[in-house]
Amino acid sequence: MRTLQAIILAAGEGTRMKSGLPKVLHPICGRPMIAYALDLAASAGIKQPIVVLGHGAEEVKPKLPTEIKVVIQKKQLGTGDAVLAAKKALGPHGSVLILYADTPLLRRTTVQKLIETHFKTTATCTLLTAHLADPSGYGRVTRNETGQINGIVEETEVNAAQRAIREINVGPLVCQIPALLEALATVQPSASKHELYLTHVVSHLARQEGTKIQATRVEEVPEALGINSRSELARATGVIRQRIIDLHLHNGVTIEDPRTTVIDHGVTIGADTVIHPSTMIETGVSIGRRCSIGPFARLRSGVSLADEVRVGNFVELVRTKIGPRVRINHVTYLGDTVVEEGANIGAGTMTANYDGKEKHQTHIGKGAFVGCDTILIAPVKVGAEAVTGAGSVVPRTHDVPAKGVVVGVPARALDHRVSRIDGAARADASIKRSPTDTRSRVKARRSTPSNAQTAHARATRGQVKKSPAAHRATSRASRGRQPVRRALAKSKRRTTR
Ligand code: UD1
Ligand code: CA
Repeated sequence: MRTLQAIILAAGEGTRMKSGLPKVLHPICGRPMIAYALDLAASAGIKQPIVVLGHGAEEVKPKLPTEIKVVIQKKQLGTGDAVLAAKKALGPHGSVLILYADTPLLRRTTVQKLIETHFKTTATCTLLTAHLADPSGYGRVTRNETGQINGIVEETEVNAAQRAIREINVGPLVCQIPALLEALATVQPSASKHELYLTHVVSHLARQEGTKIQATRVEEVPEALGINSRSELARATGVIRQRIIDLHLHNGVTIEDPRTTVIDHGVTIGADTVIHPSTMIETGVSIGRRCSIGPFARLRSGVSLADEVRVGNFVELVRTKIGPRVRINHVTYLGDTVVEEGANIGAGTMTANYDGKEKHQTHIGKGAFVGCDTILIAPVKVGAEAVTGAGSVVPRTHDVPAKGVVVGVPARALDHRVSRIDGAARADASIKRSPTDTRSRVKARRSTPSNAQTAHARATRGQVKKSPAAHRATSRASRGRQPVRRALAKSKRRTTR
């Protein structure tokens, strides 16, 4: 009967990574390495795989979905010993798919082919192999004269002839459970490392009467890569990154420079969006259609962009929702923000969303115009079609009302909104004068002393030498014959003639 369970081996220390972080938690394109193995089990239709944890188990376990069965291998005594740790959790019948948590490049189709081969050929054990130009580090697959697999020899055990074998054990295998458990009870720890190797099960089974060992090959060589070191991690990241890029290109997204574009796993991008060079987009981001992103933009987790949004150079967004046709073209940081349709965010806009303890929300209404270099201290709201002047600092909770205009540091309301002005002029709202402003200037001018009065005042204070006419005017005025202003005006007319 076709019963299939799965075990994922993830207890190893990963010494060659030289890391405090358990190997299987090292992220690849925005998700921990082990997530790729969980995906493979799920795609094989296995709802509850058994994950063997050991080194750093307390760190790894919280990162796993709750439906996963976790077993603990107390000491890391080899891959065979790890399978034995899962023995109790394993049902006694059918076959088991064993996956290593450090081979994240395997494709679903490859694992499906492995499973199909196993059941179709009614094999005792089915392996996955690859032919590598450089097989060093991997277990070599050995075959007899008729080409039948008769074992796997680990790198630490190979002789000169075996070292030259280019067919390697990729790791995953499917094995009938009773045969597997019988073999594991029999095989001995390796002489060199004193570990119980899962791979030694293969040579044991091959020697038994009536058993059948089968193998399938990976579809593409890079799939076989096992991650033991940082350089292998970097290579795997490169391969997965390219696969993600290819998927978006296939979906109708333009990516101008795939070499400098970093898009994590789990990002959605609408057709006809253009991603300019040196852009980073993290897991969970969703981008609408016909957007333009970058160059040099960074979209972090919790960001969603509607259609036709423009995010330009040196813009960082996190936990932020952007409405349709919003423009954020230059040097901006928005965190924990909602920006509604059609708003324009000027160059240098920053949300101060973190007060040292908590993060706070900013809300920018529909059609709002945030002037260059505005700092929005959250929590704060900028109403629909409101304007902030260049360089304004809007203090927390000092919400800008719809259609309001604020300027300065701290930002204060201008008493009347600027009359309908075009986009470019709005940015200068802080220096434009409203009609009220003009009226008050007139009033101010009226209350300002006239030139003649000033001249008189200065003259009486002896600041400038009085002209003879001014002298006469002052003396006439002082004698009370005519008002100073009239006298001075007369004298001025005389002098200018
Ligand atoms: C293993 C295979 C090798 C194969 C290679 C493919 C064995 C003995 N060798 O070698 O044939 O070519 O993978 O990449 O299996 N683990 C445990 N408990 C342990 C030891 C390891 O759970 O005690 C887990 C690790 O977390 C890892 C996986 O098993 O996910 C493989 O272990 P690793 O030490 O990386 O094996 P390799 O030396 O790469
Ligand atoms: Ca490995």
